[in-house]
Amino acid sequence: MDYPVFEAVRARKSTRGFLPKPVDRTLIHNILDTARWAPSGTNTQPWLVYMIDGAARQKLSQRIQDAYQQGVPGEMEYTYSLSQWRDPYQRRRRATGFGLYNHLGIARDDKEARFQQAGRNYDFFDAPTGLFFCLEKDLGPGAWLDLGLYMQSVMLMAHDAGLATCPQQAFSSYYGIIKQALGIPEAQILVTGMAMGYEDKDAHINKFRPERDEVADFLTVVEELEPNPNKSPIKV
Ligand SMILES: Cc1cc2nc3c(=O)[nH]c(=O)nc-3n(C[C@H](O)[C@H](O)[C@H](O)COP(=O)(O)O)c2cc1C
Repeated sequence: MDYPVFEAVRARKSTRGFLPKPVDRTLIHNILDTARWAPSGTNTQPWLVYMIDGAARQKLSQRIQDAYQQGVPGEMEYTYSLSQWRDPYQRRRRATGFGLYNHLGIARDDKEARFQQAGRNYDFFDAPTGLFFCLEKDLGPGAWLDLGLYMQSVMLMAHDAGLATCPQQAFSSYYGIIKQALGIPEAQILVTGMAMGYEDKDAHINKFRPERDEVADFLTVVEELEPNPNKSPIKV
């Protein structure tokens, strides 16, 4: 099917190589403004966004990069995931992680090259604009759902406007440095960062596109109630 939103959802990708071309703040404001129309539970609109560009963005990257390169271990303000991965999640994340390193010619056992590539996160992959998405700490999981919807709206509109993005949870490991530098109050949690800018279409890294499992791997169509557990699920 060929509808504009279908196209945008398929074409949006996590971009990890940007041109130095700055992004007009008015354009970013327009994107954040339109994303306000994302749904949220009882219209609570819990998202809080911090934007940084220019010299301030460079200085922040330098501070985090200094800590990272000196081996200051990142720590998380919240639990993002399972401590012990299992399939199918483990299979998917390995295919993506190893897939990216293979694409870049980085051997699985080349820890230094992997460390440096992961560290590119803290330069926003050279994107001129960085966004940080926060929530008030005491809001429940519903607010995290709302924020995810807001963020995907931002990314789709950015794509529509000719921009590229990469959501970056990597930043939350250095939340202390970021919250201090940006004046983010203690009562807020830094959920994730996001690089935003113009894609460097010649960058080899941007040619990597991880696969997705099929709809049949997650959809169950229920045609009768209390389904027989021994019957295989109906797939479409
Ligand atoms: C919440 C969230 C956090 C992410 N954090 C990072 C990150 O720190 N660094 C990174 O390079 N990619 C990050 N990604 C991008 C994912 O790796 C990417 O979405 C996934 O591999 C699918 O690829 P695609 O976005 O290109 O379709 C993140 C994505 C999400 C949704």
